[in-house]
Amino acid sequence: MANWKSHKSLVETRSFLEDFSKTLSARDHALLGGDIVIFPSFVSLPIVSALCQQWKWPIQFGAQAVSAWEQGAHTGEVSADMLADVGVRYVLIGHSERRKDQGENGPITEQKIRRCQAAKLIPVLCIGETLEQRRNMRTDHVLRQQLNDAFAGLDGADRLGDFIIAYEPVWAIGTGLVPTEEQLRDTALSIRRVLKRLFCDPRTGATNRADSLPLLYGGSVKRGNADKIMALSCYQGLLIGGASLDPKHLSDIVSVAVN
Ligand code: PGA
Repeated sequence: MANWKSHKSLVETRSFLEDFSKTLSARDHALLGGDIVIFPSFVSLPIVSALCQQWKWPIQFGAQAVSAWEQGAHTGEVSADMLADVGVRYVLIGHSERRKDQGENGPITEQKIRRCQAAKLIPVLCIGETLEQRRNMRTDHVLRQQLNDAFAGLDGADRLGDFIIAYEPVWAIGTGLVPTEEQLRDTALSIRRVLKRLFCDPRTGATNRADSLPLLYGGSVKRGNADKIMALSCYQGLLIGGASLDPKHLSDIVSVAVN
């Protein structure tokens, strides 16, 4: 998944897609086309949608944010229905930059998940600890809290929807730092433990639903480290920021994910 953040004009978006379609090998395209998701800015969504349709391209696209409210008198907000209308499938929720800059925390994440569900969009919930929290051995606590805030209030039927979780340590985003393999493994395990509790079937105690939710890793993913992260097999995909802005870098990372 490629998070472009606040980058790329309409012209740059178009030229990225043209270059990316040329650099992605036919094999990678066939194997993974539908699993590649680009998150451009709101203003670029219609052009991405139009070009993908025009070129019959299987890649998906998503929005970096969504309003916590339905359509109405909320100046500057973009509702889930509007996103669905332009063909969006996925929405990032609780990205650490939004948690910090926009206060997208706690109950707001749950509210946004509900809006996505009502519009049949798939929420990608981003969770992660700061460096200080990791140093103070608070990582598990912080991640548990973020997952609880987002999911604990959903009732049985709502919990059956599609969700994706992205583990993105705040200290790894845009810094070039990546957790050690041990940290990546331990954190994936503790996230799965919380998911098992949140998504266990209350009648049978079965946890297979929690086991099947995709868990992604994000934070300074590059073509030089993507293979090591994917080889751990505790993450089912990657959320890529800076390196996804270059079509060649992104297609190299896609090749790693396919192999
Ligand atoms: P980065 O960003 O790959 O540039 O570290 C990841 C993200 O913020 O999703």
